[in-house]
Amino acid sequence: MTTLVIGGAGYIGSHVVRLLLEQGQKVIVVDDLSTGLRRRTEGAELIELDVTLPDAREKLAFQMRASGADSVIHFAAHKQVGESVENPEMYWHDNIGGLANVLAACASAEVRDVVFSSSAAVYGMPDVDLVTEDLAPQPINPYGATKYVGEWMLADAERAHDMRTVALRYFNVAGAGWPELADTAVMNLVPIVLDRLERGQAPVVFGDGYDTPDGTCIRDYVHVLDLAHAHIAALDYLRGEERPHRTFNVGTGEGSSVLEVIDAIARAQGIEITPEIGEARAGDPARLICSGDRIARTLGWKSEHGLDDIVRSAVEARTAGITPDVEAYPEG
Ligand code: WQD
Repeated sequence: MTTLVIGGAGYIGSHVVRLLLEQGQKVIVVDDLSTGLRRRTEGAELIELDVTLPDAREKLAFQMRASGADSVIHFAAHKQVGESVENPEMYWHDNIGGLANVLAACASAEVRDVVFSSSAAVYGMPDVDLVTEDLAPQPINPYGATKYVGEWMLADAERAHDMRTVALRYFNVAGAGWPELADTAVMNLVPIVLDRLERGQAPVVFGDGYDTPDGTCIRDYVHVLDLAHAHIAALDYLRGEERPHRTFNVGTGEGSSVLEVIDAIARAQGIEITPEIGEARAGDPARLICSGDRIARTLGWKSEHGLDDIVRSAVEARTAGITPDVEAYPEG
């Protein structure tokens, strides 16, 4: 089995690469190293390539043929909601154009199995307790829209070619499976809180007036290692016979509030944390928790790690010296 992992030098992609290598599979990583890190791809062949460029299709198809790839996992994309609102054209061009190139290359090289990184961002602000895949997506920002359009593209590619695809809708991913693969960007709650604490600043809670038990937003935090295993399960599924579904939520089915996450960080570090309560952030749903029924039933996947494991692994990675070296969260 040979898998081409596009965006395999990134935070989530590199965890999947590591698992595939541990299984003895052949892995080719394609990454433009714009945010990915070469050091995360140890043990895999790395092809430096920006999949959004006009000549990327031919180059990708060449790599697929040369390596004998039978499956592709596509991670490479921009993933910052705020940036997508400010610069939607970049998101449409790169996220959608990149995927179009990848699918065209798969069709030309006759790669059949494709796993795509989608997001809970496709759902927008759902007014339900548990989000199931049957809920009609209604993205509320360009980032989420590009992921939803990406899912349509997979469906079209399946119809047009001899292809099988799966879209995994990630909920809030955090933690580290191996310290050296930790998230080095400071864009999401857990890394932001750890970063602020390291700078001697109090974490800021974005609003405590939500309709939740402690007033702060609830999310479904999934350990990146569990998420990586979901990709392995998705590849197995594509290689099997029965294929009733093409989209799967990936989360734990458990919700944690912002204050609960901060408490877990305090426990992991053995310190007391007194957060500041700041303004609510525009476009934040009060709660976003997934139903994991479909993926459990169909792929046999279930998360193994809870919030404390997630937070502990993130703290350990920072203690091991894996601190931000790609993007820095602005001061203040
Ligand atoms: C989590 C919670 C904040 C920082 C985003 C994308 C989503 C998906 C995952 C990729 C929220 C609160 C945060 C802080 C806070 N991405 N918060 N203080 O917004 O749930 O999801 O990442 O697919 O599409 O939207 O994640 O980590 O930004 O926030 O109170 O300093 O923490 O309001 O409730 P979010 P997040």
